[in-house]
Amino acid sequence: VRRSFATSAALQKDINHMTVFGAGLMGAGIVQVAAQNGIKVVMTDVSDKALENGKKIITKSLTRIARKAHPEDEAAQKSLIDKVFENISTSTSPDEAVKSSDLVLEAIVENIKVKQELFSKLDKSAPKDAIFASNTSSLSITDIAQSTEPSRQWIGWHWFNPPPQMKLVEIIKTEKTSEETYRALADLSKRMKKTAVSCKDTPGFIVNRLLVPYMLEAVRMVERGEASAEDVDVAMKLGAGYPMGPFELSDFVGLDTLSHISRGWRDSRVETGEISAEAVKESPLLEQLVKENKLGRKTGEGFRKYD
Ligand code: CAA
Ligand code: NAD
Repeated sequence: VRRSFATSAALQKDINHMTVFGAGLMGAGIVQVAAQNGIKVVMTDVSDKALENGKKIITKSLTRIARKAHPEDEAAQKSLIDKVFENISTSTSPDEAVKSSDLVLEAIVENIKVKQELFSKLDKSAPKDAIFASNTSSLSITDIAQSTEPSRQWIGWHWFNPPPQMKLVEIIKTEKTSEETYRALADLSKRMKKTAVSCKDTPGFIVNRLLVPYMLEAVRMVERGEASAEDVDVAMKLGAGYPMGPFELSDFVGLDTLSHISRGWRDSRVETGEISAEAVKESPLLEQLVKENKLGRKTGEGFRKYD
């Protein structure tokens, strides 16, 4: 981590090398936005196949952007895409991937044990002053941070799907997050052209605390036979002005992720009184689709079918 005296006299960390774990919907998108804004980034996953999937997600998105920027100029389109990929390297070796990292962000499965296992290993191989961050949708940053030495700087950096399009990031400070770390992430968010809001380390932060109970209630509405999924989607788009209805959005987010969020809150946030039992009651319809590997758009089928 390089330190520079920025406009104010305060010490500021400059983040120039990022490592992202998880090359799925979110990880690949975040890698793309970093690379588009001149940040060197290592995209890391467990297999070459998963990395290929990440590259495919990035290429598809960049192709849309390149076609819009240079209509009818294929050479310019290719050059735009190639330039972004120059900032991206890939790895399936966690220890290698974090060696010269200023910031390590995870966007892997929404499971606290898996996230803690990864970070406890990385704590030994990453530079001591590298900041650790999580893109978790619903878990406590403080809890994930229990997996590393107390001296490690931690922050929540929560992105929205699709990362290249959504303009927001949420920054979550824990009680031990320094002002320097917070400022480094606020600065990085700005460099990546996102608007940042901050929130305490509470379940779901701002957006998901409101959005997830709404999506789960939509599923229960259909389970109770009150309306069809199609009509609920049309209603929320045309009657409330949402860009996607709750079923379309659940398929977009991933039904496994939605199920993980709901289970995680049921297991640990109901007894603390933070989330009501009713809001995260298990949904048989959602669990059945997950069991059948119908996880939404990413597997070609969820509440709806996709080509
Ligand atoms: N990459 C690059 N460009 C993209 C893109 C992508 N992934 N997705 C869309 N675009 C571009 C399109 O090319 C198009 O550009 P032009 O208007 O210049 O032609 C523009 O964005 C609009 O795209 P579309 O016409 O295809 O579709 P749309 O207008 O419906 O927008 C959307 C797509 C932005 C995804 C919109 O439907 C939307 O905002 N949906 C809701 C998404 C949302 O709520 N996300 C948050 C989920 S919750 C979460 O993420 C947190 C969590 O922890 C679970
Ligand atoms: P995804 O299923 O699309 O991708 C997850 C990726 O992580 C997969 O490629 C998987 O192989 C990889 N992975 C799993 N364990 C790993 C490990 N130990 N090391 C490296 N890679 C590993 O999931 P996603 O939708 O990108 O979600 C990732 C995280 O981001 C979750 O915590 C989720 O809650 C959060 N999130 C999701 C959304 C969304 O809308 N999908 C939005 C914001 C935040």
